Amino acid sequence: MQTLREMQSEDIDAVLAVIESQDEDDAEEAEAGYREIGGVLDQYVIEQDGKVIGVTGFSKPPGCDETYWLSWTYVHEDYANKGHGRKMLNELIELIKQKGGRKLFVKVSDYVDDEDGAIYAAALHLYQSLGFNVEITHKDYYDEGESQIILGLRLKDKLSTVAQEENCPVTFNSVFEIAETDDAYSFGWHDEGEQIFTEDDVKTGIDQVRQDEGRAVFLSFPSNFVGIKETLLSAGFSNSGILDDYYEDGVHEQHFTYIL
Ligand SMILES: CC(C)(COP(=O)(O)OP(=O)(O)OC[C@H]1O[C@@H](n2cnc3c(N)ncnc32)[C@H](O)[C@@H]1OP(=O)(O)O)[C@@H](O)C(=O)NCCC(=O)NCCS
Repeated sequence: MQTLREMQSEDIDAVLAVIESQDEDDAEEAEAGYREIGGVLDQYVIEQDGKVIGVTGFSKPPGCDETYWLSWTYVHEDYANKGHGRKMLNELIELIKQKGGRKLFVKVSDYVDDEDGAIYAAALHLYQSLGFNVEITHKDYYDEGESQIILGLRLKDKLSTVAQEENCPVTFNSVFEIAETDDAYSFGWHDEGEQIFTEDDVKTGIDQVRQDEGRAVFLSFPSNFVGIKETLLSAGFSNSGILDDYYEDGVHEQHFTYIL
């Protein structure tokens, strides 16, 4: 097997065939992203005998210090369970470390298909054996009975910094259904301007989700924003965990859930 090479837009069809061999719905979701301008940037493929057999890659969330997310990671079904996935991920992790990566996160579903069983079980096993730890499990996230598991891998020693609290004027500006979910919602927000959101703002958002027949609301905020946690908890949200050192060492991403 060759080593990782950068994905080109000419690889899109071959990569979609790799993903489709494992999951047709995922291939459809992935296609939209790959076909955007810059959609194959930071994505990598592996080949065997000149044929693309695996894909992986990363993205960097804005506003974070050297935080990375793993993107679509698939090995063609015909080539799975032969060590390609492990080699591909080890190389990618090394690449991210060379770029200065501090933490790497990945999301996995626990979906159990009627015919194919737990289709993401190999991925979960592989990530954990590479040193990723489960940081948050969002129950019933994608759909009722299908959770989202977020794992994190530390790539650098942690700095012993004390996070400064921030008085951020958080304002909600939209209510939207989360991509890849059935009826799970979130609120868009920004932290520019005057207003600090109130319990009433949160309740207005929940009412909107109820009107849209949503099942649940998932929200997340930096752990050093003052007053957010208290307002969300008094509006009926529950604390669903943290992504440790997500923004920077000492500043986590704090997650909240409201079940309708
Ligand atoms: C995850 C994936 C990329 C791994 O690629 P791969 O080439 O099969 O990986 P490897 O052969 O290097 O390793 C697979 C590991 O999973 C294990 N495994 C296979 N099936 C498993 C199952 N049903 N349950 C638990 N572990 C399983 C194998 O034993 C092996 O572990 P080991 O090295 O400790 O023995 C590939 O299986 C895949 O495309 N899966 C579907 C898509 C997916 O889940 N992507 C990730 C979404 S976040």
